[in-house]
Amino acid sequence: TSPLRLGIAGLGTVGTGVVRIVQRHAALLAARAGREIAISAVSARSRQKDRGVRLGAYDWEDDPVVLARRDDVDVFVELVGGDAGPAKAAVEAALELGKPVVTANKALLALNGQALAETAEATGAPLRFEAAVAGGIPVVKTLTEGLAGNRIERVMGVMNGTCNYILTRMEDAALPYDDVFAEAEALGYLEADPTLDVGGIDAAHKLALLTSIAFGTRVDFPAISLEGIERVTIDDIRAAADMGYRIKLLGVARSSGRGVESRMSPCLVPVDSPLGQLEGATNMVVLEGDAVGRIVLRGAGAGEGPTASAVMSDVIEIARGQRLPTFGQPATSLAPARQAAEPTP
Ligand code: NDP
Ligand code: HSE
Repeated sequence: TSPLRLGIAGLGTVGTGVVRIVQRHAALLAARAGREIAISAVSARSRQKDRGVRLGAYDWEDDPVVLARRDDVDVFVELVGGDAGPAKAAVEAALELGKPVVTANKALLALNGQALAETAEATGAPLRFEAAVAGGIPVVKTLTEGLAGNRIERVMGVMNGTCNYILTRMEDAALPYDDVFAEAEALGYLEADPTLDVGGIDAAHKLALLTSIAFGTRVDFPAISLEGIERVTIDDIRAAADMGYRIKLLGVARSSGRGVESRMSPCLVPVDSPLGQLEGATNMVVLEGDAVGRIVLRGAGAGEGPTASAVMSDVIEIARGQRLPTFGQPATSLAPARQAAEPTP
């Protein structure tokens, strides 16, 4: 069997992680995928930058769109980021050619997922995004495959590690929000635009994707009721602790008679619950299905290794010839997402 040839756009934290796994685990990947996984060409902004990985054997493309269209690229791996610009243009270019796409880009999919999934469906190209939700936690595959026999009743979780770090650190070190925010910044936890983290937007992007998969609705980011952690004070955290609770930036999606409700907001969770015990820059997703009951997934929601691990799971799925619909069912069969007038507490 011929090798599966990747074109990787974006050689930052996640992109270099993917290159490392492809190089380090060549034999293991080939055994699991049933064919060799190779890299044809890569793209990033700066060709000169030392990225700590060997890139000399791969062709270089300045433009991710050109990379996506190359004949020797069987799978386009988008790790540039951003909900528009080169990431979107290149993903569209690949899908229009019927070429499989793997991406970690939650912003792109939360804002353009329906249209991209319809293009993918029309051309028969898989569009996979395990890394876009909760990094290394395989929550997309758990929902679309492991729990495919269930009616999902509720999805909830902590989906932004930075916010969880800030909230737990405020409590543990009794430090005010501004001090801990500065600390998170110094540790390099914050996105280039920190509002994406502390405003709850990044977590809501992830919740929008999970909501669609869990409830068979169109991806509808604006329908999510959203509040970030910027206004959480040390007094709020102390008052919660006095009552046996902790404050978490919690995403909750559930189906009710009024439609699907999704909200992302600071919530009280019992201190002795799995969510209440989640420390630091970690993620946790709780899934409830009518047959399986409750499943709790916990792990690293970000970082080079965990995120690249999730990207590779999609690459292997494609190498095996699996052709799964983007959001677990055909995009054209997804129902409109509706937001209840009053989010249920
Ligand atoms: P980085 O900022 O580390 O890397 C982005 C890469 O894209 C860089 O290599 C950059 O080039 C390249 N790039 C930017 N603009 C262009 C362009 N116009 N043409 C070609 N290349 C370009 O991002 P991350 O690796 O952290 O994130 C990548 C994606 O993965 C994002 O969608 C992010 O949301 C998602 N993600 C990231 C996680 C993480 O832990 N970091 C976790 C889960 C998802 P150069 O290096 O030359 O500047
Ligand atoms: N900024 C995100 C977080 C990165 O803190 O969880 C992973 O999506």
